This record gives sequence, structure tokens and C-alpha cells, in this order.
Amino acid sequence: MENAYNIKKDAVQVEAVSELGLNPFPWYEEMRKNDPIHFNEKLNAWELFRYNDILEVVKHPEIYSSRRSRSGDPAMAIQSGGNLLMTDPPRHRQLRSLVTQAFTPRTIAQMSGRIIEIVDSLLQKGRETGHMDLIADLAYPLPVIVISEMLGIPPEERDSFKAWSDLIVSPSYADLERGRKELRAYFQNVLQQRKQHLQDDLVSGLLQANVDGEPLQETEILDFCELLLVAGNETTTNLIGNAGLCFDEYPEAAREIREDISLLPSAIEEVLRFRSPVQRFGRTVVVDTELDGRQLKVGQRVFCWIGAANRDPAQFPDPGSFNIRRTPNRHLAFGQGIHFCLGAPLARLETKLAFERLFHTFKDIQFQRDVPLEPISSFFGYGVEHL
Ligand code: HEM
Repeated sequence: MENAYNIKKDAVQVEAVSELGLNPFPWYEEMRKNDPIHFNEKLNAWELFRYNDILEVVKHPEIYSSRRSRSGDPAMAIQSGGNLLMTDPPRHRQLRSLVTQAFTPRTIAQMSGRIIEIVDSLLQKGRETGHMDLIADLAYPLPVIVISEMLGIPPEERDSFKAWSDLIVSPSYADLERGRKELRAYFQNVLQQRKQHLQDDLVSGLLQANVDGEPLQETEILDFCELLLVAGNETTTNLIGNAGLCFDEYPEAAREIREDISLLPSAIEEVLRFRSPVQRFGRTVVVDTELDGRQLKVGQRVFCWIGAANRDPAQFPDPGSFNIRRTPNRHLAFGQGIHFCLGAPLARLETKLAFERLFHTFKDIQFQRDVPLEPISSFFGYGVEHL
């Protein structure tokens, strides 16, 4: 199936991940072998392809700062400043401690019942017609419904909410700005309402939270709400979609999971490694440094290609094989270190419940093969438009 994916071999000057198509893996392998710490002149950025180099970067936030999102391109504007993902210690630690409560595996596990209800209602179309788009009908709406419920967004407002979050992750700068503006205006309104009537939701929780007696600033709350959408929606959609891709490509694995559903969590870990929903993240060098003989200068960007690290043979034996029982499987799909994905327990749970219910509801699932697979258009994400 890999051959069916289009690859651009000369993709050394990649800006958006989607330029690579659905099979970036041969290119990653080439780069890992021949130029694993590659300098991208157009972006004034280093690109890293090996597992251990990326670990080195995430372990040293004092050298590799998260403060800027992207430099040298218009999407710089996304660096609004205060959000968790783009702060360094000590501020990062303070902000993170305020929101971890809402995202611990225990808190998240309590949402299982409600997530199953949502999944079952989304499978209704498939039950009625015998046909569904795994992306549009399940993978896409599921995370947005869950996160909007956590934030206390009423159901009738979810569609615009989802539209803004899509604009924000689009590679078009104009769309990104428009999405951000509309979303912030919306949340500003929500904040005012919650200030008058606190409710049992995340926004109300943040309004009451404080760091050393200081309440969060309104812009920090807005930044966090925006981050949840950007970080949580497209990524989870892609994880569910990519799991579908893998089960289509390896029907034997899907059959084994159906026979023994306890294999599903480790299968999802393997999907995260094998087709990582986020293919890269970035840092900025804030202290001149050396990495395996290369001199990295203050102000340069560093792009960490997680998708490549997750197939690094130095870390994963036989990295090109999809092995649902792989142990250990220390993939970097959720990052590592202080910025390790806050939403990982939620993304894992949503994906697990989605496939438990899919396999339970439909005894036989056939993927439609006459529809070509289209990569989503995204700066950092990897997934398909329809399945
Ligand atoms: C951070 C991936 C789902 C919220 C990250 C990072 C990665 C990532 C790679 C680290 C980025 C870096 O170090 O620069 C993913 C993937 C997901 C997913 C692959 C789905 C499969 C979610 C969900 C949420 C979420 C569902 C919330 C609802 C966050 C937040 C951070 C983060 C808030 C920043 C944490 C910090 O800076 O301390 N995610 N994510 N993510 N993610 Fe996720």
C-alpha cells in the first residue's frame, strides 16, 4: 500500500508537512542516514531526524526554547506569547500545574461513559446506511464534541467552534488569523458570562485558578482555550484516521484485535509510532550550542521530525513493520519532557473507545479502495481527508 502514497523525494525544503504526501518515510530514512542534522537555509532551521538527537533537544529547554512557534514565515503570528506550549520554565511549570488536574488519566477515565454515548451516536449513520466516512462521521466530530463539553460550549455552537479550530491549523496565514480572531472574540464572551455565573467547566476552573495568589490573566485563559483546540482536535482526528489506515493496510492485525480486544491499547501505541499524527515540532536555540559536531546559533529554529525518530532503527528494531505487540514502544508521538502532551490520556481513551465500539457494532468492515487517499493540508499534522 505504501507505493500508492505519493512521495516528493526532493522535499528538503519542506514547509508544511503535507507537502510530503502520505509516504514521507523513505525521505526520513534517507535523511537519517545521510544528513541527520540537516540545515534548512530557507527556514534558517536545523532539522533533526534521529531519536536520540530529538531527546537531547527536549531535555534541555534552557538551550532549546519553546518560546517561538515558527520564524521566518508569516505563521510567526501564532506566537501570541503566553500559551503553555510556547512557554519555558519557570512560567511553564506554573501554568501547567493549573491545568494538569483536568487532564490526569483518572479524571479522563471518568469521561468514558459519556465518550461511549457520543461514539455510539456518531456510528448511527453507519448502522443505518452500512456506509460511513471514518473521518467525517467519527474521527472529526468526536474530539470536538468532547473538548467543547469540557469547556462548557453549548452543542448548537460547536460547528463554528470546529470551523475556527480548522482555520487555525490551516497552512494559510490569512485563514489562521481569521480563525484566531473569531475564536478569541467568542471566548472573550464566554469568559464574561462565566465571570457572572461560574459553572462546572474548565473555563470556570481557570477563572478561579491562581499561581501564588495571582489569578490567571484573561489573555492566558484565552491562549489556553485556543491551544486546546489547536493541539487537541486535528491531532486526535488524525490518530483515529491513521489507526483506520493501519487496520486497512494490516487486516491481520485488525482481526487479532477483534479476537482479543485487550490488544487495542498497544495497537494504538503502534499506530502513534508508525503513522504519527504530529510529524514534527519546533524549538528555538537560545544559547549557542553544539549537537553532534554541528554548531547551532542563537535564533535558529530546530525542527524535530518525530515521524522520523519513531522509525529510527537505533531505537526500534524492524521499524518499518507494524507490530501491535511491540514492547517497549517508547515513541515520541506525544513529545517528551516538560511539554509532554497534556491531552495524551484523552486522545488514547477517545481512540480506544472509538475502535471498541466500531468493532463491536460492525462485524465486518471493508475499506473502500477505489477512493484515492488524500493527505490533509497541515503544517505539522499527518492524516487523510477521508476514509
Ligand atoms: C503537547 C501531540 C492530543 C493538548 C503536545 C506535544 C505533542 C502532542 C507532540 C508536544 C509538543 C512540543 O513538545 O513542542 C499530540 C497528539 C495528539 C494530541 C499526537 C493526539 C493523538 C491532544 C489533546 C489535547 C492536547 C486531545 C487536549 C485536549 C496538548 C497540550 C500540549 C500538548 C496542552 C502542551 C503541553 C505543554 O506545553 O506542557 N501534544 N497531542 N493534545 N498537547 Fe497534545
